[in-house]
Amino acid sequence: MKIYLDNAATSFPKPKKVSEAVYDFMTNNGTSSGRGAYQKAMESDFIVYECRKLIGELFNFNNPKNVIFTSNVTESINMVLRGMLKENDHVITSSLEHNAVWRTLKTLEKEKNIEISKVKCDQHGFTKPEDVKALINNNTKLIIFTGASNVIGTIQPIEEIGKIARENKIPFVVDGAQLCGAYPVDVKKDNIDILTFTGHKSLLGPMGTGGFIINCDYNIDPIKSGGTGGDSAYEYQVDYYPNKLETGTLNVSGICGLREAIKYLKKEKIENIYEKEKSLTEYALKSLSQVQNIEIYGPKDSEKITPVISFNIKNKRAEEVAHTLDNKYDIMVRAGLHCAPCAHEIIGTKEIGTLRVSMGYFTEKEHIDKLVYALNNL
Ligand code: ALA
Repeated sequence: MKIYLDNAATSFPKPKKVSEAVYDFMTNNGTSSGRGAYQKAMESDFIVYECRKLIGELFNFNNPKNVIFTSNVTESINMVLRGMLKENDHVITSSLEHNAVWRTLKTLEKEKNIEISKVKCDQHGFTKPEDVKALINNNTKLIIFTGASNVIGTIQPIEEIGKIARENKIPFVVDGAQLCGAYPVDVKKDNIDILTFTGHKSLLGPMGTGGFIINCDYNIDPIKSGGTGGDSAYEYQVDYYPNKLETGTLNVSGICGLREAIKYLKKEKIENIYEKEKSLTEYALKSLSQVQNIEIYGPKDSEKITPVISFNIKNKRAEEVAHTLDNKYDIMVRAGLHCAPCAHEIIGTKEIGTLRVSMGYFTEKEHIDKLVYALNNL
């Protein structure tokens, strides 16, 4: 039996109905959405519309037109940051960002001379909301925070930071890559202006799907222009959602799979998924702490993290351990920096990286037991 423990990279397996829906769409429909008036194209329109609606509902948002589809969360973050930030703007971000945010900000620092302030956090990744407040100045134009670290799992105080952003009339953007589907997120209660998400992680959908929810009136300029399926004689990008930010043919086959995945999540209930994954995380933390010569990073508290645990084994390179786990024990984990060097600065592993175990809805305790056995027998 192969054991997959890399769900923070992408979830596997997916619910059977997800792949069946993609296959069925590609075999029996296969038409574009928003571009035809014949019956099958209208079925495509409905699939896309219903998926927007279901995604909105999952995050307590009821305006499907403001649910924008992209190909992944990295594209969503690029579109939001590039579409909102102007020359010399000041941005506040966390100390744990994935390169999807960090590289985009650093590129904008070069291109538009934006100023970036990183909010400090402790070695477990805990951020104090008042430290965000202290960095706000008259020129602060955006706050962007990861919902949870993809390296150590630490969940960020999104609701409190969102409140501070609202009080100061600053757009608040959340990178929901690790949070959406694994943790209850409510854009209203959590004061989120823009929630970016990816379809293929805890939302259990296909790769190539993602998007963002615009829960605010702040302007986002389109960074792409082209066909939107309507108003074709108009020579500029249209100014209404979702078309303003969706150009070119949508990934309807992927969206069809994502729609099925969201239906599955709604049936299972995010709260139940969260509880199951939390108890697995608790079990994994307890079991891993028994492994000889292990150093576990981040909070050792399943209430404070998503199902992601980073660690190292003394005197062994993370990559070598991952290779042995794969080759000798059929266990798949990720090793290295996980595209998030900032988080490694916090836990002191920028030079060596970590081994990362990330669990999903289909992980079982038995998988953790086999991992622990393998680590004890390296
Ligand atoms: N961001 C993904 C990960 O954490 C790719 O592995």
